[in-house]
Amino acid sequence: CVCVCVCVCVICHLLSLAAAVMPPAEDRVGDKCQAAQVKGFSAYFSELSRGKRAVEHRAVKASDPTPVEELSPADVFIAVKTTKKYHHTRLDLLLDTWISRNMLQTYIFTDGEDDRLRKRMGSHMINTNCSAAHSRQALSCKMAVEYDTFISSDKKWFCHVDDDNYVNIRPLVKLLSHYSHAHDVYIGRPSLDRPLEATERFGDSHTRPVRFWFATGGAGFCVSRGLALKMSPWASGGNFMTTADRIRLPDDCTVGYIIEALLGVGLIRSPLFHSHLENLQLVSPTQIHHQVTLSYGTFDSKRNIINVRGALSLDEDPTRFRSVHCVIYPDTPWCSALTWY
Ligand SMILES: *[C@@H]1O[C@H](CO)[C@@H](O)[C@H](O)[C@H]1NC(C)=O
Repeated sequence: CVCVCVCVCVICHLLSLAAAVMPPAEDRVGDKCQAAQVKGFSAYFSELSRGKRAVEHRAVKASDPTPVEELSPADVFIAVKTTKKYHHTRLDLLLDTWISRNMLQTYIFTDGEDDRLRKRMGSHMINTNCSAAHSRQALSCKMAVEYDTFISSDKKWFCHVDDDNYVNIRPLVKLLSHYSHAHDVYIGRPSLDRPLEATERFGDSHTRPVRFWFATGGAGFCVSRGLALKMSPWASGGNFMTTADRIRLPDDCTVGYIIEALLGVGLIRSPLFHSHLENLQLVSPTQIHHQVTLSYGTFDSKRNIINVRGALSLDEDPTRFRSVHCVIYPDTPWCSALTWY
């Protein structure tokens, strides 16, 4: 076990180091950090079945707790991280679906001007001026702007998602209302079944190993305002970039590092957040409207998408987000025009 951990960590470090010096061959640096830790298929699939059990477990007791705070969608700040290259191919789908129902609390963080997007989002499109490269630094640069923009807003909750996430606002607000925004709350889904092991660097030579859990950015995560304010020394202004450099890990890992390792606040795990790193076919069709986030992607060159029936074929709706949207908002004009089977 020790040997496996050491090997995995070495791989993770090499990957994040490689990500720091060269443009990644793959899309997402954050995934590498996670993918490097998932040991082959058996580990991957046992991870998936654990995820499934967690979903089923959750489904049974989803309605138990009473809210501790009256919350409305307007209290939530949803940051969508994207890049200019994906404004058309990824963001349009989100704008046609969940963002259209959440215009007042959704902020798009990108890296290039776009008149069409600006017209649609106004001040809710934020040009971070960060590099469009998919480097660790560019991602941390965007997270830093997301953090600062949230802090200067009047919202109670900061939620971060990627441009391949569907956000379902009702279960999100319901979930967050079970916590106080003034308390220390960090909620999301870890993509690993053990803490991430990294190395803190102080100056040139002094290093220290550190272990912490983090919520995978690809599934989305939320942080209460109370906790976000405490993160300020390591996250505000240019500090987030400095902190990310100290452990040389991507943006979502750095958030976990600040919260778990530096502030000593534990991640609350929720199986209602979903990334494309898990088997999305395992989300039960009858449970779709209870999920907080969904995603789509490919795994092992096969499509990894939500299993949802609807009038739209795979060709018409390859990500299944439009079909999901019609399940959640059946009153959408282009949904009711479709013939369901
Ligand atoms: C990006 O640059 C533009 C033009 O200089 C500026 O107006 C904008 O405030 C900058 N964005 C951020 C997040 O600093």
